[in-house]
Amino acid sequence: MSKSALTLAQRQQLIATATKALDNSYAPYSKFKVGAAVLTSQDNIFAGCNVENASYGLSMCAERNAIANAIIGEGKDTIKIKAIAITNNQQVSCSPCGACRQVIWEFGQDVEVIFWGTKGWQNSTIRELLPVGFTL
Ligand code: THU
Repeated sequence: MSKSALTLAQRQQLIATATKALDNSYAPYSKFKVGAAVLTSQDNIFAGCNVENASYGLSMCAERNAIANAIIGEGKDTIKIKAIAITNNQQVSCSPCGACRQVIWEFGQDVEVIFWGTKGWQNSTIRELLPVGFTL
């Protein structure tokens, strides 16, 4: 578990926002509700939840929806992510999936990822979760 660069208040607010986003999750197929919250370099927080589809492969993860909301809120040219928190309704360990790791990486290589893990809330950097991200 890496050291947090956030204040305790920021960390708590991020976790609270991710938890609240669970209420909006649309997960009728898996019943696995996921909430995420992104903290940007401008200290704004944006939420996201997973949105599933009857055509399962079209389902979108909470992390990527939160990032899309951050881009809508702040604009594509300035967006830089400091941290992202992810939680789920089943209290099971849930770090971001591989696709989400690559999308998080796109918007900051030092992003702090806070997720519910095997030992409760855990911190990792995106570099730890995705050591060699793809860059074009
Ligand atoms: N899911 C997320 O939202 N984020 C993750 O990091 C892992 C998986 C969602 C996708 C799908 O709606 C449900 O969890 C079950 O895979």
